[in-house]
Amino acid sequence: MRRGISLASLGIVLVSVAISIGSVRPAPIKVVETYERKCSSCHGKEGAMLDKDFEKKYASASELREVVESMPGAIGMRSDALEAMLAYTRSISRREPFVVWTEQRGDVIIGEVSPAAATVQARAKRETLRVQRTQNQWRITLPKGVRPEDVEITAQRGGVRTTLRLKDSPYSHTK
Ligand code: HEC
Repeated sequence: MRRGISLASLGIVLVSVAISIGSVRPAPIKVVETYERKCSSCHGKEGAMLDKDFEKKYASASELREVVESMPGAIGMRSDALEAMLAYTRSISRREPFVVWTEQRGDVIIGEVSPAAATVQARAKRETLRVQRTQNQWRITLPKGVRPEDVEITAQRGGVRTTLRLKDSPYSHTK
């Protein structure tokens, strides 16, 4: 009996450790939607008017950050939101699909992909997950026992692919 109780409390400790380790979170903003609202008037839909490889003009990541920070649409943006926006601009410069996880509603995770023309595939524990799409948005219902940190999302466009593991980051192009 005693042993039963201590095993049970050990179980609770292990579960709470697992929950705290596994606390992955969505991005602080809807990056693609924010870009379309605040930046696309000058830089085009999905960054169409930004030059390919524009980031090479900047000697360092912080130089590029300063430029984006100074943009009319970026005034007052929190630094964690700015980092996410910066990641999106990197993907535009590289002409690679951008993937971001923006929301969790129960067992449903929701995010964005840009360009909208990219395909999105998702896997977790070697299982293929069903992805619902509308324009720049994707939505995945997690099967029982699958957590966001188990999910790996791949976006592909014209033979160029981006893979995002949610356990690493809620968005791609962090570097
Ligand atoms: C009112 C027009 C305007 C808006 C709105 C605007 N920008 Fe800009 N952006 C510019 C201009 C003009 C430049 C080039 C001048 C410069 O480098 O400072 C530029 C440069 C950039 C560059 C560097 C491009 C390069 O080729 O070096 C990036 C990246 C960028 N903007 C991102 C953004 C983002 C992200 C937003 C929204 C948060 C945004 N911009 C909103 C006008 C705008």
